[in-house]
Amino acid sequence: MSNFVRIEKKINRFNKNLSIDGDKSLSIRWALLSSQSFKKCKSSNLLLSEDVYSTLNCLKKLGVKIKISKRFCEIVGLGLNGFKYKNNSTLDAGNSGTLGRLILGLLVHSKKSIRLKGDKSLSKRDFLRVTKPLEKFGAKFKSNFGKLPIKIQGTNYSKPIKYYENKGSAQCKSAVMFAALNTQGETIIKAKKSRDHSELLFKYLKLPIKVIKKEKYDIIKVRGKHKIPALNYKIPSDISSAAFFIVLTALGKNSRLKIKNVNINPSRMGILYILKLMGVKISKINIRNYKGEKIADLVIKSTNEIKPINCPISLNSSAIDEFLLIFLVAAKANGTSYFKNLSELNQKESPRLIWGSKILNKIGIRNIITKSSIKIYGNPNLKIDKKIVIKNFLKDHRIFMTSVIAALTFGGKWKIYDKKSINTSFPSFLKKVDQLGANIK
Ligand code: S3P
Repeated sequence: MSNFVRIEKKINRFNKNLSIDGDKSLSIRWALLSSQSFKKCKSSNLLLSEDVYSTLNCLKKLGVKIKISKRFCEIVGLGLNGFKYKNNSTLDAGNSGTLGRLILGLLVHSKKSIRLKGDKSLSKRDFLRVTKPLEKFGAKFKSNFGKLPIKIQGTNYSKPIKYYENKGSAQCKSAVMFAALNTQGETIIKAKKSRDHSELLFKYLKLPIKVIKKEKYDIIKVRGKHKIPALNYKIPSDISSAAFFIVLTALGKNSRLKIKNVNINPSRMGILYILKLMGVKISKINIRNYKGEKIADLVIKSTNEIKPINCPISLNSSAIDEFLLIFLVAAKANGTSYFKNLSELNQKESPRLIWGSKILNKIGIRNIITKSSIKIYGNPNLKIDKKIVIKNFLKDHRIFMTSVIAALTFGGKWKIYDKKSINTSFPSFLKKVDQLGANIK
């Protein structure tokens, strides 16, 4: 089977309902936290993607018993500090930054020496951002300037820490929160705003956590050594995956789409706020709470006139995984859009700010980038009829999927490589595109 797709036709108008795969952040957190419980934990609608399989495989290597079927996943937790594994074992985090960083938090107390490795993309990413704070608990990490592979030597005598998380990274914040779970005393984190799934799960589990919300940051206090009860969870749909179809509909002609059961946690809603500012019509219906998270059905309609945006930096962290798509919307805007303070985008699976600019260049949209910003000169009449090839993007799943959306929206003759990258976060992506009537070869 070839590892590329060809798209040579725009998608026709559609009026459909679509279901989207489970949330990746919540699926990984569910599995990691369940491993620390002293009970059997069950989830449904777990995202069955490579990042989540990597999580389950790491946990299996750490002695955790896991049963998995298409509908359910069951984890028999080993309790705090209960991992059982051979000295010098190696864990493979694959492509997943969330797994790689969060699991280090759980290994701060590892009794035996253990190694963490990852794929080519993950091995280029910065781990000092987590090993530095985790060392303060007493663990030791050996690596080549903070890159994987990392050797971990845990501590028996961890002490609580004070930590200032200043990147707006939920992975860094959560790694420290996970380490705090097994540390006697109170760990205090001052964290720039970022997704708060870990906080909400800790609260739902009635673990001793206090969160004080300030305008620009949160103070999070976690007391450790509390037993973790059963975590039974139905994972809602991932807004970051839904975002591909939100943008496909918004940029289409006379189309309408309803997506059910989407996680609309405010710390993930940046895409909806930004698109609204750009004139896109999205309504949230049937809003409800689920174990601390907010869920809704989304209804999206095509938009004739896209407005340019000077994107408020306060929205950056809540849309961090959606900027490639937002740049496509800006390409169609009636004026110049400006996005700043986005250096973190270049720390993702591939340097995404640079790739955003590359894709815009390929579709003929003028843009100016710096290390942390991009200015996009939109063209509401954008039409493409040339050949475009997208390859060598470190198999970044979001670059593949964004390119598919661009091809279906703007036209042209596209050849997009690394189709298998969708298995990282959204294995059913191409099937969903087909369901809306696209004809991808
Ligand atoms: C994630 C946090 C974000 C995001 C990633 C998932 C998480 O990364 O980009 O896809 O689940 O905590 P950072 O925390 O590094 O910004």
